[in-house]
Amino acid sequence: MNNFSQAQEIVKKYNQEHLLKFYDNLNEEKKKILINQILETDFKQLSKLYSHINDIKDSKDEITPITYIDKSKLTNEELEKYMEKGKDVIKNNKYAVITMAGGQGTRLGHNGPKGTFMLGTTPDKSLFEIFCDKLKKIKEKYNVTIPWYLMTSKENNLETTKFFEKNNYFNYPKEAIKFFIQDEIPMIDKKGKVILTEDGLIKQAANGHGGVFESMFKSGIIENIKKKKIEWIFIGPVDNPLVQMTDELMIGIAVDKNVMAVGKSIVKANPEEKVGVFCNRNGRPSVIEYTEITKELSEMRDSKGELLYGESHINCNLFNIKAIEKIGTNKLPYHTAFKKATYMDENGKIVKPEEPNCYKFETFIFDAFEKLDNMQILRGKRKEEFAPVKNKEGTDSPETARKLYEEYYK
Ligand code: UD1
Repeated sequence: MNNFSQAQEIVKKYNQEHLLKFYDNLNEEKKKILINQILETDFKQLSKLYSHINDIKDSKDEITPITYIDKSKLTNEELEKYMEKGKDVIKNNKYAVITMAGGQGTRLGHNGPKGTFMLGTTPDKSLFEIFCDKLKKIKEKYNVTIPWYLMTSKENNLETTKFFEKNNYFNYPKEAIKFFIQDEIPMIDKKGKVILTEDGLIKQAANGHGGVFESMFKSGIIENIKKKKIEWIFIGPVDNPLVQMTDELMIGIAVDKNVMAVGKSIVKANPEEKVGVFCNRNGRPSVIEYTEITKELSEMRDSKGELLYGESHINCNLFNIKAIEKIGTNKLPYHTAFKKATYMDENGKIVKPEEPNCYKFETFIFDAFEKLDNMQILRGKRKEEFAPVKNKEGTDSPETARKLYEEYYK
């Protein structure tokens, strides 16, 4: 059976025949792409996801507060001990950084990969350059080149790599920077039909930052890391210029406590702040995302008046190589978001909806925590760690982030 007949059979089986309706109008290259997309799509998984879309998530889970180490309460002796252990890891070339740069940055309204966004500092720098500066400082301090891996998406990979080339890799050793691409998953409409792009191809979206583990294996990045005998890998976001690319304290605590991972937290500013919070879920470390926490849980306080679920997850997590191997290519659960997306309808008409019209599926990195044997939470200080660039204006915007960044580096 040729590929086309195979694709025909698949779409028939899964009630997605509209996908081939405009096949004849496509040019040869696009025909090939569409057929490959159909052959590669896990339609069984998509129908399963669709049938569970209205499930109330984890309603039976037992959620309890998590314990943490508070940086501001450490004694000088403790600080020194942890810092020394952290420095040893770095100096012995056992540390690497991954930046998750596959997100779309829709809310920011920036036309291009989020890391190429110019923060407006003096001198003006892109987020990527700001991160690279931090690695350069460490290079000067310890005479060590930390390998830097960037996870991109199919959508932004080319633009990202070109940006690095154009900027001469910000004068960081080029061979220490590697890119790898995360996977995508099709979007579906309210009836469970996979939607088409304006070009008549399957509309796909990046599969969430939980895809980082699977992509590390598929792209061979994990082999590269193992070959270098790296033991600790920090995985951080692209949208926070205060991210500590190398935190000796965090690394030292991981070594001293002999844990598989350390998650950095900061105190949640108020119950409504749009951050996930660390917790124990059925006795294992986890995060409740801000879109999924109940009002009741978000407002609970302890006897000192602190939020009981107030350890904000800022997407800054350190993993041991053994943790990454353990998580491996196991699929993490998908979370669903209802989004607005332009598409081609069953009559070949391009529809630009005013309201959300389709489902996007994403896995989250923190759903991997519960697979680990143990994990430590480290509460850091907000002004040293967190200046999110999320929205075009107002809270968590370039303006607020620039201010926080400049205050800290002053
Ligand atoms: C995220 C966290 C939230 C945390 C907050 C802190 C999630 C789901 N939520 O919210 O718990 O408190 O940041 O700022 O992460 N990314 C990819 N590929 C993807 C999707 C995202 O690489 O497919 C990257 C983005 O480029 C970014 C990071 O992941 O670096 C965060 O992504 P985003 O989806 O914007 O998370 P938030 O909703 O802001």
